Amino acid sequence: DRCWSVVPAAGNGSRMQAVLPKQYLTLNNKTVIELTLGKLLHIAEISGVVVCHADSDTRFGELAIAKHPRIFAAIGGTERAHSVFNGLGYLRDMAQSDDADWVMVHDAARPCVSHASLERLLGHCRKTGRGAILASPVADTLKRQQANTPIITETVSRDNLWQAHTPQCFRLGELHAALKAALSTGVAITDEASAIEHCGGSVDLIEDSRDNIKITRPEDLALAGFILGQQAL
Ligand code: C5P
Repeated sequence: DRCWSVVPAAGNGSRMQAVLPKQYLTLNNKTVIELTLGKLLHIAEISGVVVCHADSDTRFGELAIAKHPRIFAAIGGTERAHSVFNGLGYLRDMAQSDDADWVMVHDAARPCVSHASLERLLGHCRKTGRGAILASPVADTLKRQQANTPIITETVSRDNLWQAHTPQCFRLGELHAALKAALSTGVAITDEASAIEHCGGSVDLIEDSRDNIKITRPEDLALAGFILGQQAL
């Protein structure tokens, strides 16, 4: 089976308080999305990467990486799940793809994923035949808040609790069907694994480095720059 990647990149990054969507902010003269795509392209087993950008986005096509032979562009949607669904549809329309192929869905805003984690995830899926996601065990103590007050109602045990990262890797056909079902029923889908879970599928956790941060707030950009600098050493 081949492996593909879908990169949702159609968010507007409103939490960044920046004029540009976060994937177009720069670190050492490279945009965040170029850094992220570079990580995926480094994995030779990935046959192609579909970037789902906003319909109104003219920046992506201007980047040199948009012309890379393994990079393809599709149009994103109103929510992340719609963007991913469109990317999967693009892949399924490609002659060389098969529903049994693997697809790694990876946020454009996670440039710090390591080559080792990408290889571990894909290796696990290929070996076991099961879908899996990168994740890290919850480190902080978790509190539940009473709605609309500052009051803690309980401390939530962090035993067996993980933070989901991306990539999340599934069979192309299975993920397409799961997202289609989830989008039609209107359940909240914040990652691919939750769509598979809603369909009764099982998903494995693969421990990832806590360095695989999602750039969400302004301070995350400097931290990502530091992590990328360490990876280059
Ligand atoms: O907003 P959030 O941090 O959850 O976004 C995660 C990823 O999903 C980002 O790479 C963002 O560009 C993408 N996204 C998308 N389409 C949307 C919303 C977010 O592709 N409608």
